[in-house]
Amino acid sequence: MTKSSIYTVAVAGMGKRGMHHADAVAKNPRLRLVGLCDLSEERLDAARSKLGVSYGNPDATQMLEDTRPDVFIFCTLPHVRLPLIEAGCRAGVQLVAYEKPVATSMNEALEMQRLVREAGVKTVVSHQHRYGAHYRRVKEIIASGAIGRVHTVYGHATGWMMHMMTHLVDYASWYNDYAEPEWVVGQAAGVGKFADVHASPDYIAALVQYANGVRGVIECGEGAPDVPEVEAWWRKCRIGAQGTEGFAEVLTGGGGAGGGWRAVTRDGFMSGPGGMDYDHDMPPYIQDIVNWLDDPANVHPCNGERAFTGFQVMMAACRSAVQRGKVSLPLGPGPSELEELKRVL
Ligand SMILES: NC(=O)c1ccc[n+]([C@@H]2O[C@H](COP(=O)([O-])OP(=O)(O)OC[C@H]3O[C@@H](n4cnc5c(N)ncnc54)[C@H](O)[C@@H]3O)[C@@H](O)[C@H]2O)c1
Repeated sequence: MTKSSIYTVAVAGMGKRGMHHADAVAKNPRLRLVGLCDLSEERLDAARSKLGVSYGNPDATQMLEDTRPDVFIFCTLPHVRLPLIEAGCRAGVQLVAYEKPVATSMNEALEMQRLVREAGVKTVVSHQHRYGAHYRRVKEIIASGAIGRVHTVYGHATGWMMHMMTHLVDYASWYNDYAEPEWVVGQAAGVGKFADVHASPDYIAALVQYANGVRGVIECGEGAPDVPEVEAWWRKCRIGAQGTEGFAEVLTGGGGAGGGWRAVTRDGFMSGPGGMDYDHDMPPYIQDIVNWLDDPANVHPCNGERAFTGFQVMMAACRSAVQRGKVSLPLGPGPSELEELKRVL
């Protein structure tokens, strides 16, 4: 593709996140929305008139057949993944972008990965908080060496596992230069949230051993530490790294008081503002899709292979809570992690 060509995009799931995606696509001069899809006709009609898209269909497979887009984006709840990946591959799209979490089980994720690898389809998963200026500032400080040699990365959130955990793993791993995770020890508690559409234990903790010797500490759900500086409940997340000469961490924040970043480095204490903001984070996330389609060397920072590794860390924590002991990566197929976890809890 030449760098002036326009890529066509079809989007399924016109809820909160689907609208964020479609809006950012509509505003990108290199992309053109050619189709929208939602099971709810009301949502579909509202999205079509807001975005000025003539084609709408409640059936994603039909939409893909009719519009044959370069890019398929879907933003459905976690239980709808594999059939839409299959539909995208069958329709010959170049790239599928979809929402976290990657899947609801390791078996599903493995099948999704097999399909996209065999079809040569690029994938992107929406861990887009990393575009926040405060997230990036923390990365810069860590990468500059100002906190010395990193020995620990961490992330915690009060939101529960299927909402928050792969975000935390992704950003903590970013702060550790995406070293390979080798094994995970997990523990979990509480079954109340298994009834939710983001079915999860109420609380889960994971200790991660990375190949470069760094330890990861991830916690989410009820009982994870509060982030009192941040008012907005869903944004009470703290992610960072500790090194031999200090630490640097981001507080997700935004949509209320609090947020930002802070660090103690060999130069002393420093801090700054910041808050997660979809309007700020979505345009560069979408632009990086264009950049990757233009040039295979411009791999998207939220590429699916990375997300797949983070998803394995989450599933390994579930398996560890069920089986006890260390669970080594990579993971193979197995019984449904969520079902097993619910059974033992
Ligand atoms: N990355 C982030 O920052 C972030 C933030 C919030 C939510 N999410 C994730 O985004 C996903 C969607 O969340 P949401 O809040 O937008 O949900 P939502 O309920 O607002 O929207 C989902 C939409 O998908 C539609 N849908 C369901 N199945 C469909 C199908 N087979 N074909 C077409 N449409 C279908 C529903 O009718 C609904 O309109 C979830 O996986 C969630 O975890 C990510």
